[in-house]
Amino acid sequence: MKTKALLLFLSIIILSCSKTKKESSTLEIITLKEGWKFQKGSFPDAVSVDFDDANWETITVPHDWAIYGPFDKEIDKQVVAITQNGEEVATEKTGRTGALPYIGEAWYRNTFDVPNYDKSKKVLILFEGAMSEPEVFVNGKKVGEWKYGYAYFYFDISEHVQSTNNSLSVKLNNKGKSSRWYPGAGLYRNVRVILKNQESIDQWGTFITTPNINEEVAQVNVKTNVTGDNLKLVTTIFDAEGNEVVSNETTTRFGNQFEQNIAVKNPKLWDTENPYLYKAISKLYVGNTLKDEVTTKFGIRDINYDRNTGFSLNGKPTKFKGVCLHHDLGPLGTAVNTSALRRQLEILKDMGANAIRSSHNMPSFEQLELCDEMGFLFLAESFDEWKKPKVENGYNLYFDDYAEKDVVNLVRATRNHPSIVMWSSGNEVPDQWGSEGVKRAKWLQDIFHREDPTRPVTVGMDQVKAVMESGFGAIMDIPGLNYRVHLYEEAYERFPQGFILGSETASTVSSRGIYHFPVEKGSMVQHDDYQSSSYDLEYCSWSNLPEDDFILQDDKPWVLGEFVWTGFDYLGEPTPYDEVWPSRSSYFGINDLAGLPKDRYYLYRSRWNTKDETLHILPHWNWEGREGVTTPVFVYTNYNSAELFLNGKSLGIQTKNNSSPQHRYRLMWMDVKYEPGTLKVVALDDNGNPTAEKEIKTSGKPHQLILEPNTTPIKANGEDLAFVTVSVVDENGIPCPTATNQLKFEVTGNGRYRAACNGNATSLEQFHLPTMKLFSGKLVVLVQSTKEAGDITLTVSGEGLESSSVQLKSIL
Ligand code: GAL
Repeated sequence: MKTKALLLFLSIIILSCSKTKKESSTLEIITLKEGWKFQKGSFPDAVSVDFDDANWETITVPHDWAIYGPFDKEIDKQVVAITQNGEEVATEKTGRTGALPYIGEAWYRNTFDVPNYDKSKKVLILFEGAMSEPEVFVNGKKVGEWKYGYAYFYFDISEHVQSTNNSLSVKLNNKGKSSRWYPGAGLYRNVRVILKNQESIDQWGTFITTPNINEEVAQVNVKTNVTGDNLKLVTTIFDAEGNEVVSNETTTRFGNQFEQNIAVKNPKLWDTENPYLYKAISKLYVGNTLKDEVTTKFGIRDINYDRNTGFSLNGKPTKFKGVCLHHDLGPLGTAVNTSALRRQLEILKDMGANAIRSSHNMPSFEQLELCDEMGFLFLAESFDEWKKPKVENGYNLYFDDYAEKDVVNLVRATRNHPSIVMWSSGNEVPDQWGSEGVKRAKWLQDIFHREDPTRPVTVGMDQVKAVMESGFGAIMDIPGLNYRVHLYEEAYERFPQGFILGSETASTVSSRGIYHFPVEKGSMVQHDDYQSSSYDLEYCSWSNLPEDDFILQDDKPWVLGEFVWTGFDYLGEPTPYDEVWPSRSSYFGINDLAGLPKDRYYLYRSRWNTKDETLHILPHWNWEGREGVTTPVFVYTNYNSAELFLNGKSLGIQTKNNSSPQHRYRLMWMDVKYEPGTLKVVALDDNGNPTAEKEIKTSGKPHQLILEPNTTPIKANGEDLAFVTVSVVDENGIPCPTATNQLKFEVTGNGRYRAACNGNATSLEQFHLPTMKLFSGKLVVLVQSTKEAGDITLTVSGEGLESSSVQLKSIL
């Protein structure tokens, strides 16, 4: 007995030692999160090793220097005509880039060790995004520069490093008039130092595809680019449970590339319902010495675009039920955060969405990993501009020198993500006009094809007539139309591809919980409160209502699906209020800037989420002063018909019908006369029998705060977040939908207050200060873990209200 136990003990020690040894002898990645010093302004001397940065702010990366505000109208005030919005006359615009102080120069400094460094090794420094025009200095020497703030890039710094105490300085510069939305500022994505042997797998050198799949076997093709001589590559595939599936060894190289075709028997496929992920571990040897080891997650899946069946995933025709997302995370700004991204995707999943478009730039690696894990299809975009400008200091300044490099890095860094099913080389680029643009479109598309022959390329096109004439639209793998629903049919006829993608749709505008009367459709409607009505009937001069897209999606088999503008509100672009202050964030979101669903969320959910019931009533029922006045009631539901009751009295049955686009998808009682009380909807099944019901009530005065965390426990890693939705109810527990109480937040224990957001696009309250007003009765507080596990308490108080606390936990 004793001997057996001793043997077991010894083998555990041997196993764990060999594991440690292997990892340290091959590849090391040091992520530089802590110890950063930051200062806004121009500090050319800060390149020097001895520069004294003691007085600079100490921050962690990812970091967005501009999100702390304050909001200021003067920051991005411009007198411009936004030509892509069809404007001809220049007017004063504010809040276009969020009215946040992102413009100007700033410096970051840090020191780092490379513990196992010696002269025989190779060291890279990788930036997953730096906003913008980064210049990088190591130990006082410039090691490289880039331009585009969304690009991933790395430099070989082997010649400049030592094993300890390396100094790193990064200069960033954001020009004014460089963006159409809030771009953020700073080292907003991760910075890593990578240590390799000279004989190694190249950075982003692994490319895994699955060209042939059937039930019995999948062909997993692994191309691995390497540096060094006398190399042997061993690729081992593991299933999601960590069991070894198959291993393949090769010494046959073509140029600098190994190519392996590995058979995976009885493959489990990746799809949006079951996003099954395999893992490939590539080990590179010289003789029997391990030189490098790279782990790549991948999925076995087949994608196909066909003129008869549209897009298919694993042979199953699938329409894109997608949303466009800008990269900011509301109150966090652009500093990438996995728990914030995960929460967004959870909200979208519940809505029934299956796809994301990273408009109009490279997505974060964190977002792609989550999409792989959670089962989202991904349209990865690169640029909002090519050579012709939309904004004076936009990408047009860099296009000639950088476009190819930026596309190459985008594709190589992300091509193993099964979620990515399409690339986009541009959005509404002004180069849609003229023959040069056609050449550029072809040139970029060819670069994508060269780097990745497995996925098609689109461009979001808004100049549909022009691209029909010029041939621009005809050369695209996938013709993507932005808006212009009236031109879909014609484009389908004239383009050769046999399908059309709604690469950007809707741009309907609304503010959560705000309703305007009379209830009527309107383009570019402005109201005195600078909010857009949540009856979901307001849109832009170039855009349309959700139903106009639904009809195309439902009636035209050749429409591949849609990407709604946008899944969440974002900072900047406050159309239709970009000429009035203080609007500073968008109204386009299906969810607001805090991630709280607007009514529109339920309209999409009623169509997209085919598994769960949706039964949602709007508006709220607190209309003091409107007694006896017409106050229409809409119901967004997956049921076809429903009966509405006000204080027990039937207001009749409505059934979806084809009399207008709205009647086809919404149930609407247009002449309800307001009286306080209870509004109840009873959904009817196809036989007219009651099958589900929902009610809302008129509330009394705000009385008590309700705190609902999206998750607990969170990870004690100093980054994880809990999002606590704060709402207010009256004495009887009925939600108060119009409350605007000023609240205060306090976090004690092993967490800290991170930010709050109420979704009000006109609020100038700073997100990081621990006080904010409710907007339409709600807001969200973000609580962040520290590195110590334990209990966390958030207490929220407000004048005249009973304060409330919620207990959270963080674990290691
Ligand atoms: C589109 C554009 C988006 C956004 C949107 C607003 O034309 O591609 O970036 O500006 O309009 O409706």
